[in-house]
Formats: sequence, structure tokens, C-alpha cells
Amino acid sequence: MNNRILLAVCGGIAAYKAAELTRLLRKKNVEVQVVMTESATQFVSALTFQALSGNPVQTRLLDEYEEQAMGHIHLARWASSIVIAPATANMIAKLSYGLADDLVSTLCLAATCPIYVAPAMNQAMWHNPVTQENIARLKQRGISMIDPEQGEQACGETGIGRMAEPASICARLIGDKPYLMPQTNVDSTQKTRGILEGVKVLISAGPTREPLDPVRYITNRSSGKMGYALAEAALQAGASVTLVTGVVNLKAPAAAEVVQVETAEQMYHAVTSRAQEHNIYIGAAAVADYAPVQIKEQKIKTQAHESTIILQKTKDILAAVALLPHRPFVVGFAAETHDLAVYAKGKLVRKKLDMIAANWVGKEQGGFDRDENSLHVFWHDGDKVLPMTSKTQLAQQLIALISKRMNEKMAAKIAL
Ligand code: C5P
Repeated sequence: MNNRILLAVCGGIAAYKAAELTRLLRKKNVEVQVVMTESATQFVSALTFQALSGNPVQTRLLDEYEEQAMGHIHLARWASSIVIAPATANMIAKLSYGLADDLVSTLCLAATCPIYVAPAMNQAMWHNPVTQENIARLKQRGISMIDPEQGEQACGETGIGRMAEPASICARLIGDKPYLMPQTNVDSTQKTRGILEGVKVLISAGPTREPLDPVRYITNRSSGKMGYALAEAALQAGASVTLVTGVVNLKAPAAAEVVQVETAEQMYHAVTSRAQEHNIYIGAAAVADYAPVQIKEQKIKTQAHESTIILQKTKDILAAVALLPHRPFVVGFAAETHDLAVYAKGKLVRKKLDMIAANWVGKEQGGFDRDENSLHVFWHDGDKVLPMTSKTQLAQQLIALISKRMNEKMAAKIAL
């Protein structure tokens, strides 16, 4: 049981998130002791952590008040696990080389319990080969990494390096709903066979293309792999499938009825005109949120140094389907670079969906144009994490979850 966590805070702007992590761990009845590097105390005061953890905070290796000046050994023995959050590039390098010149690095060297490292740094420092080598060495030694996320950084740059959110670090530490787990090889085809017999499923997949002129368009990185895998999984589960697809480089399942579209407007009409004949609609397409106001009939000439394109919002297909009088069971997707749960749950409510499958994009672990992904699925009174696996298996698991939720919804309606 991971009930005595030693939280080591290093000097970075993400140190403020460690305060929230302390609070979350305390809420789960975990005892927390905090140690800080000297530079961490420049960002957040030791008093903050003392108040939140309910324990004195140590910052120095040699503390005259600590019995026999052996505080680091006591702390290392006390902890059921250690988490370094945020872990700076400097601390990662120290751990990698076994240095022990401050309290945090020394007690890590003295510890025999599991150690978790949640890095936070500028994206260029993260990508630097020496940081990556150090991280690989730590992993080889069995230290668990809680990978940083993609997004805007305090330095004004955008990229990988933001510390993972306190809630996901907390979940990882106490084994509650980890976001990313090793790939599983369980074949779930057997479990889904026949569960959608007689059910009609409409799926939209791939990107849309929003033309500017006869030769140019605005699009996104969607490969269509998730939507196509869902079409395959729904067919395997016994459903009849209509696949409304943007332009992709994939072969559609032979048994699906395929409707080819290009723009968000075309996808809107293709989906909304068919949705009421279907029992389930899964909006897995990466629909452009904005399209050019004007499509020029002739190729736009290169003239001025700068050029402006005026865009207008496209119609929200999912929200429109959810408002139809005979609406199917509506499942949306949310591709997020940060605050995944908050945005996904917001869309579930705002678009009046039955379910939403959220995934990280722009992250090393998955997202657009990859063969693997992980999903965090939300519905109104529950959620489930589908850990990192192939999109084929993920689609089978999502189809199983959709079928279960749809049956529960129908049963609840009948009971009323
Ligand atoms: O709001 P956001 O675009 O992130 O929502 C993503 C979900 O909404 C996806 O399921 C996508 O297919 C759907 N969507 C839509 N119509 C739009 C934009 C997004 O159906 N115009």
C-alpha cells in the first residue's frame, strides 16, 4: 500500500503544482512528507507545503536539528515511495550519475522504495539528447517516469515539457486510473462478437479539407485510423455500418457503406441526413472548426508580403445530431493537448452527448497518425480509461463500452 509518500520538489515554475499534488494525496489519506531543493524554495515557500502536508518540510542535507544529522536516511526508510515533482533536468542528470550533493539526490540514492519522476522543463531541454539519455538510464534502473505533457510553457514556447497534471500524478501514485499503461495483447474480438447484431452504426472519420481556391485547402493531421478501426470493430460486433469519411489514405472495410466527403459542410449534410436512421453515431472525424468565408474561383496570386484569410465557424455536426428528434446514441471524440478531462467533460455536457472519448494529441504516447493510442472515456455518471494499445483493440474496447452504455440507457428509459 502506497500510503507514505515522500514528495521531493525541485526548482521550477511547476513547483506550484506540487502544492496541489500534496492536497490531492492528503485527500486520499496518504501521509505526505515534503523535501525541497534550495531553488524550489524560491518558487513556493516551505510553509505552504508544511501547511498542506501537516509535516515539517526539510530542505537541507545536513540539518543540525535532525538527530545525528541523518535525516535523509530516516526519510528514505520512512517512505513507501518517493515522487520527484517537478523534476528538473539538473536533478534528472544528478540521479542518472548517482550524485548526492543535496537532500533530494542523497535520499534517492539511499532509498530502496519505488521512485517516480515527473519532469518539467523547457521543451528544448527535454529534447536535448543528454536529457533523453539520462531519462533512459533512470528507466533502465527501474525508476518510473510520469511523462511531461505537450502545451504552452512558462517560457512562452510550446512543446513537450509541462509537468503532468497533479490529478494524473496522484492517480499514478496510488494506482487509481493510470492514464497510460503498457500495451496489452488481449484479443477482445471474441468478447464483442454479436453484441451489435441488428444495430445500425454511423461513423464519421478522417480530416476535412476546407478549400481556399481551386488548388489550396486547410486541413489537419488526422489519419482516419481510429474511425476506420471503429467501423471494422462495429462490423465484427455484428452491426451494419455507414462510414462518412474525409480524404484519407486507408482502405475502407468492404462490408461498410462508404460516403466520401471533403468539407465540413459536406460531412454535416452526409451525417445529419442519415443520423436518424441509425442507432449509434460516432463522430471520430477531425472536423475543421473554421472554414474560409470565401472560396476564390481562381488561384490566389502571390502579391503582398502578408495575406489574411477570413474564417468562419463551421456547423457542429455532433451537436446537431444530438438535437435531432430521433437522435441516435451519440459518441464524440475530444483530442486535447492539455486539461483533457476538463475539456472532454465540458464537451460532453455542451454538445449533449451520451459519451465522449478523449485522447491526448501532440504527445509522444499517441494521438493523430499513430497506430496506438489510449482513451479516457466519459459519460454522465462515470468514466473509464482504455490503456495504451493498438487502435484496432482500442476500437473493439470502445465498441464494447458503447454497446454496454447504450443498453443501460435503454433499460433506464424502459424502467421510467
Ligand atoms: O469541439 P471539438 O472540435 O474539439 O470537438 C470534437 C468532437 O466534435 C469530435 O467528435 C468531432 O468529430 C466533433 N465536431 C463536429 N463538428 C464540428 C467540429 C467538431 O461534429 N464542426
